[in-house]
Amino acid sequence: MSYLPFVFMLVFSGVLMYEQNDYIMILEHVEIVSYNKQHVGFAKTRNFKYNRTHTGTNFTLKMLTAFGNNLQMEIQGYKFASNEYRLFPITFAVNICATIAKNDFGLQNLYSCGNFSRCPFKKGNFVICNWSPDYSKFPPFIPAGSYMMDYILTYFDQPVLQAQGYASVKRIKDFNP
Ligand SMILES: *[C@@H]1O[C@H](CO)[C@@H](O)[C@H](O)[C@H]1NC(C)=O
Ligand SMILES: *[C@@H]1O[C@H](CO)[C@@H](O)[C@H](O)[C@H]1NC(C)=O
Ligand SMILES: *[C@@H]1O[C@H](CO)[C@@H](O)[C@H](O)[C@H]1NC(C)=O
Repeated sequence: MSYLPFVFMLVFSGVLMYEQNDYIMILEHVEIVSYNKQHVGFAKTRNFKYNRTHTGTNFTLKMLTAFGNNLQMEIQGYKFASNEYRLFPITFAVNICATIAKNDFGLQNLYSCGNFSRCPFKKGNFVICNWSPDYSKFPPFIPAGSYMMDYILTYFDQPVLQAQGYASVKRIKDFNP
């Protein structure tokens, strides 16, 4: 149960500042499950292999609503065990603009390629390119395994977009590239 401390940190600390070199996270792919056509004109991902440890994702997005600082994201983790993804106690909700402002999870890397809207979010067509998670800024001690993360974006309690990311976590000491 070595992951419990970090779950509590995620839930109870307003500030998420991590530096870890305990594991690598290999993103397998990100897919858009659904979106609300009232707020999003289209949303697509394209996943590609970047190098041995990094998969890149390109996002194209048409935002029909100026979300301002009001987009929330609920995150639920699932870990693959006994042939299925089972609920894993990673579950939290964040305000996306606040998360980006603090660079939690290294999310300012959303701006390293493309033209995604800065906060407050505006309407428009946006591209985020060559993105992959900056796992050096993720919490330490996540157990090795295969994970599915479910992301639900909401705007004043209305669903905006649901995406899922698949990734595997390997201990650095066990990883022989
Ligand atoms: C893969 O690319 C990432 C991002 O540029 C880089 O940090 C990492 O060191 C690269 N890995 C290898 C094995 O080249
Ligand atoms: C962002 O880039 C895309 C692709 O180049 C372009 O179609 C879109 O108009 C750009 N959006 C903004 C807000 O500049
Ligand atoms: C991802 O986007 C970048 C920048 O626009 C582009 O150069 C690259 O070809 C795209 N990759 C794929 C697989 O579409």
